[in-house]
Amino acid sequence: MKKWVVANWKMNGSLQLLQDYQQAFGNSENLIVCPPTVYLNQSTMLTLGAQNINEHPKGAFTGEISASMLADVGIKYCLVGHSERRQHFGEANDLVREKAELCLGNSITPIICIGETLEQYQAGKTLEILRTQLKECLPDSKDLWVAYEPVWAIGTGLTPTTEEILSTHAFLREKLSTVTLLYGGSVNENNAESILGIPNVDGVLVGGACLDIDKIQLIYQTSASAN
Ligand code: 13P
Repeated sequence: MKKWVVANWKMNGSLQLLQDYQQAFGNSENLIVCPPTVYLNQSTMLTLGAQNINEHPKGAFTGEISASMLADVGIKYCLVGHSERRQHFGEANDLVREKAELCLGNSITPIICIGETLEQYQAGKTLEILRTQLKECLPDSKDLWVAYEPVWAIGTGLTPTTEEILSTHAFLREKLSTVTLLYGGSVNENNAESILGIPNVDGVLVGGACLDIDKIQLIYQTSASAN
């Protein structure tokens, strides 16, 4: 099975970057690009995903975007519960689950992000935290994806060791036998090959490195040869 690359632009990028992606990746398989919402309707050559939705189906929530609107413009994937949403916008596990349910109800695959903080990692609580997050964030469905992103690895240049990712993903696989499992957190063109080679890592969720078209191309090339 070919491995996945999911590019999360966060609040970065431009139309120009979208055009660069189209040139580099037009109609490529197993690549999902998650630009800011305003760009979601701007490409038919790329598989685009959203970074967030509102937890209500519709209504008086000025400035928000609903799952049905994403579905309306052909979006098939949406990140849910990214740690930056949890950290800056106070999203808790039950809200993450509500959003994931709305995605599923609109035929959008939620990519549910979970992961422990540095403090929890240092206290050896990673699996305990993940167990709770899985229990509280995941709807009862096989049509979702899970991205394991240790909070301390995001944007820091730090990653868990290969053995740590191996054992964490084995733990996740045991609970989620058929679910696509991504790893995210400081994935770059130098470490992508070894991370994508880890059993039960079905793909990577890339932040910073995906803003550089050369780097994301290198990561994508790696994914094409990993299995
Ligand atoms: P970085 O790749 O910049 O660490 O970000 C990871 C991430 O948060 C992807 O969702």
